[in-house]
Amino acid sequence: MALLGFFRRFLPPFSGFIFACLLAVVLQIIVFSPISPDLLHLPEPSSLASLPTNTHLQGVRKLGEDIVKGPEDVCVDGNGALYTATRDGWIKRMHRDGSWENWTMLNSQALVGITATRRGGIIVCDAEKGLIWVDEDGHPKVLLSHVNGSQLRLVNDVAEATDGSLYFSVTSTKFDLQNLFLDVLEAKPHGQLLKFDPSSSQTSIVVDKLCFANGVALSKDEDFLIVCETWKSRCLKHWLKGDEEGKTEIFVDNLPGGPDNINLAPDGSFWIALVQLISERWEFVHASKAAKHLIATYPSMIKMVKGAHRKASVVNVGADGKIIKKLDDPDGKVISFVTSAFEFEGHLYLGSLSSNFIGKLPLI
Ligand SMILES: *[C@@H]1O[C@H](CO)[C@@H](O)[C@H](O)[C@H]1NC(C)=O
Ligand SMILES: *[C@@H]1O[C@H](CO)[C@@H](O)[C@H](O)[C@H]1NC(C)=O
Repeated sequence: MALLGFFRRFLPPFSGFIFACLLAVVLQIIVFSPISPDLLHLPEPSSLASLPTNTHLQGVRKLGEDIVKGPEDVCVDGNGALYTATRDGWIKRMHRDGSWENWTMLNSQALVGITATRRGGIIVCDAEKGLIWVDEDGHPKVLLSHVNGSQLRLVNDVAEATDGSLYFSVTSTKFDLQNLFLDVLEAKPHGQLLKFDPSSSQTSIVVDKLCFANGVALSKDEDFLIVCETWKSRCLKHWLKGDEEGKTEIFVDNLPGGPDNINLAPDGSFWIALVQLISERWEFVHASKAAKHLIATYPSMIKMVKGAHRKASVVNVGADGKIIKKLDDPDGKVISFVTSAFEFEGHLYLGSLSSNFIGKLPLI
């Protein structure tokens, strides 16, 4: 009341009206904000100094151009056939002779990480339905759709161990696929790394409270696994064997982008695709809770602060967590929004959410 009196006394009447409007907007934002945000500390720009930008990714050859729409992830089976899941719900594959086959239709707009499985066929992460096994004949079978009675959502990537166990990430247990950017704005750890044991059909939590859990890969000896935390710009290492078994530590952090999919390379290192989840121009938003509330309340503002995807970067990281090299297309001239990198027979195969082809790059 005192405040109101102050305004009545010192400001002309129309200012009071403006004040009331502002108050209404602030109340609207606080009451209707879908998030309860934390601040997000982004990596220091100095962390990039040792990794100069290059144009190596502009040297890719385009495979399956106009056949694959937004091929997010790539995998290769024991026969050397290359698979990808596309935005229109197809699993398409390229045979060794370079011919493409529209292999099987899964009728989903939410297909992301895929992996070849030892028993034949591939396992697909469907961010709305769970884990799906597509057998060698192209028949899909849901492996896991519910955990503890709830629909499994936002399964993002999966890795298969020699014993058949599946390690997979759940990006956010709070937000759905349509509202995933709210997870970035909230900046709280709602992600998980889970394990599915096919012999008992039991699912257990391996690492809880992850920040936007994304790519998953096992080490060459399966003594540890790596899980990517996208908006945290880092990857964690979880020990499965040895003295450190059960412990989780930082594998690599301060990455020059958000790690998306990760794949084991034949030499035991890892290929990690980096995406720009956060627009560089709007970084300051992540340092203000008020700004986060404001943006989260208005979908048009969310569109504005989302990352720019007109660039591509992948890093090769050794089993010791040291970055070996980085490959870029800095302005997305040839390939942009690269979400996965898979090494096979001396070449890197690149998946992308904004391209209509798979990039193939010789590794010298
Ligand atoms: C596969 O799908 C693409 C478009 O997605 C189409 O252009 C092509 O003709 C199809 N190929 C076959 C063999 O049906
Ligand atoms: C299932 O629920 C039990 C009991 O609340 C809990 O201990 C367990 O971690 C849950 N499992 C998963 C995979 O969420």
